[in-house]
Amino acid sequence: MSIHLDIDHVSIEFDTPKGKFKALDSVNLKIAKGEFVSLIGHSGCGKSTVLNIVAGLLKATQGGIVLDGKEVDEPGPERAVVFQNHSLLPWLTSYQNVELAVKQVFKGKKSKAEMKEWIEHNLKLVHMEHAMHKKPSEISGGMKQRVGIARALAMQPTVLLMDEPFGALDALTRSHLQDSLMEIQNTLHNTVIMITHDVDEAVLLSDRIVMMTNGPSATVGEILHVDLPRPRERLALADDPHYNHLRAEVLRFLHERHAKKDTPTRSGSEVKKASVSETKVSAENHPTEQKDQTASRVAA
Ligand SMILES: Nc1ncnc2c1ncn2[C@@H]1O[C@H](COP(=O)(O)OP(=O)(O)OP(=O)(O)O)[C@@H](O)[C@H]1O
Ligand SMILES: [Mg+2]
Repeated sequence: MSIHLDIDHVSIEFDTPKGKFKALDSVNLKIAKGEFVSLIGHSGCGKSTVLNIVAGLLKATQGGIVLDGKEVDEPGPERAVVFQNHSLLPWLTSYQNVELAVKQVFKGKKSKAEMKEWIEHNLKLVHMEHAMHKKPSEISGGMKQRVGIARALAMQPTVLLMDEPFGALDALTRSHLQDSLMEIQNTLHNTVIMITHDVDEAVLLSDRIVMMTNGPSATVGEILHVDLPRPRERLALADDPHYNHLRAEVLRFLHERHAKKDTPTRSGSEVKKASVSETKVSAENHPTEQKDQTASRVAA
């Protein structure tokens, strides 16, 4: 495999009022061009931290990120991020939020009319054409998340970094967006790193699922290769024994980690975060409960 994105022995320590906190310890992951990698692991283990380091928003204390042979340690438009909580500018409409990113990337390369068409095209991909001139305060959480996805896609990034992009959406919207993401990736061959708590989503979308150990000093635990042929069809896969085997492997890992969750150095707030993930894992076979958990998590 030729390495496109190299997360090279990344460790990070945060300064906290109680001293240094080592969140990640030597996270090492080599990713090929066009590969779809999911990060899965308990709440608070360090998934968002890994993503933020790849995005250039946080600096590793040791190790670093190499993209196509070049070290990257600051943000760049070739690595677009869809954040865990949408990060739209509240004073701009959905259209203007996407426009800001498009201008940053395509200024001088696309005409005004081409930019308008491209912005509208990306908002249509996520079914937001009807509300493109509304501001974030006027649309729902799921809709804001969709605008965030449109904004990232509109930058035509080589690496798309997504932090629980579909977590706050209802099941039907989520499956539509998963399908469009698979289609988009099949056409554009973006490299994707996606964080998810949803085991089915991870298996359906990924080439590899990277399962992280619990923090502090979290690292890569196990890596599962998802060798299901593409295009993948969710309904057909529901009865596929291999799909169900892969799914069970991820669940097994999470449950084993869950049993090992108690670490003496956790602060009170981290214990609280972990307890939310406990319910999420145990709700895995009850989609409605899981959705409620997600909703309460987002509201928290
Ligand atoms: N700026 C910071 N300063 C101190 N500690 C931090 C900072 N950012 C993250 N942490 C700690 O690092 C650990 C990893 O956090 P991170 O947000 O990456 O977890 P996560 O796996 O994304 O969790 P979740 O699934 O809940 O989103 C947590 O213990 C968190 O409290
Ligand atoms: Mg996170």
